[in-house]
Amino acid sequence: MNHPTSRNGADQPSKKELFTSSGFILAAIGSSVGLGNMWKFPYITGQHGGAAFFLLFIVCLLITGLPVLLAEMTIGRSGRRNAAGSLYQLTGNRFWGVVGLLFILTAFLIMSYYAVVAGWTLHYTVESFTGLLFSEGTDYKEKFISFASGYLPVFWQALTMLVTGWVIARGVSGGIEKFNKILIPSFFIILVVLMWRSLTLPGAGQGVEFFLRPDFSKLDAESALIALGHAFFSLSLGMGCMMTYGSYVNQKQSLGSATWAIGFGDMLYAFIAGLVIFPTVFSFGLEPGEGVGLAFMALPAAFSQMPLGFLFGGLFFLLLSIAALTSAVSILEVPVAYAMERWKWSRKKAAVIVSSVCFAVGVPPALSVGGVLGSWQPGGKTIFDWVDFSTAYILMPFCGLIVTLFAGYAWKRAGEAAGLTGFWYRVWMFLLRVVAPAMIVLVFLYFMGVISV
Ligand code: PHE
Repeated sequence: MNHPTSRNGADQPSKKELFTSSGFILAAIGSSVGLGNMWKFPYITGQHGGAAFFLLFIVCLLITGLPVLLAEMTIGRSGRRNAAGSLYQLTGNRFWGVVGLLFILTAFLIMSYYAVVAGWTLHYTVESFTGLLFSEGTDYKEKFISFASGYLPVFWQALTMLVTGWVIARGVSGGIEKFNKILIPSFFIILVVLMWRSLTLPGAGQGVEFFLRPDFSKLDAESALIALGHAFFSLSLGMGCMMTYGSYVNQKQSLGSATWAIGFGDMLYAFIAGLVIFPTVFSFGLEPGEGVGLAFMALPAAFSQMPLGFLFGGLFFLLLSIAALTSAVSILEVPVAYAMERWKWSRKKAAVIVSSVCFAVGVPPALSVGGVLGSWQPGGKTIFDWVDFSTAYILMPFCGLIVTLFAGYAWKRAGEAAGLTGFWYRVWMFLLRVVAPAMIVLVFLYFMGVISV
């Protein structure tokens, strides 16, 4: 491939390791299906009234998520570089290269704390399968708090970084693709087993009804903004992830079909996750709007009361761990790809150095969830909350906005590179130029407290 804006004659995809077509779809689904679907989606849906919120989430996916997803993949495949390098490569303008560094920074920061939560899921998987988690009269909330405020989370965080770094060091096809090809089908099987378990619990119907019968009176403008922010997070947008994966996509692959497949996959997994969680929650009389503690504090209580609960609990946390690890791999690949190209490091060297630094940066957040650093709360937030807040609500929307402006206005060949013409091209451009930026700015201003709804 050689196009007019190619810099340094270095645009040689043949030298780059590429995904196979199915491998790419699986890896992208692995990235998008993460803690967001399994842990965050159910609890925000619970807080915002169930089915109506789910519908809103689908609308947000369609009108902002998918157009931005297609834009990110197109930029990556045409630039054939890391996120920052691709923006520069396609325009030849240093400004875009520098702006692109924000993607690398965002991914790096997200990885530092995503590894902490992924670590919790690993711990809970082991504790569940071994039965250590469950005993008569346990207060699971207290149990989680005492775990999270100790030093053990740092061990699990280190293990997460080790596994993630190892997969990445093995390369695109031998590492990332293989990892996803094994884990995503296993993930699906476990999910179906758990769905069967939860739907056959006594009183499951109430949970299904809560999740599937829309009550629009519960929706307000805040729900819309949260649904939109989540559609973004859930599709792994706004941090260079899909650009980086896009840079390993072969030229023959239809990016339009990939967009539908990934969007559908993400929605399907969110849907099934809802069918696993709500029937269980209702069957055991728990509170669906419980919040962040839903997975780690409320559900263990349910598992402890069902027959073979250690097994189903173990499978549930295993599911969360797989979801977290396949996403973590895609996040870490963003700074690793940058380090390889920017400093000409080998993949192994980049994987080792980036994971180690990322681990170190993640230790303070890990120790701030009730741990030794928990009482230090500058501006009323712990370090963990600060990293979460600044990435999810500031950096990610901002980077998302950059993508829409870049593909919608600055880079003139987006339509051709995405393989879109006619009607779909016009729809895409309208969403990218007008709808998506407007929605992103609204969400951003809302979370910054500039506007209230
Ligand atoms: N999409 C992932 C989830 O739902 C999170 C993620 C965000 C992964 C950004 C990669 C990049 O949990």
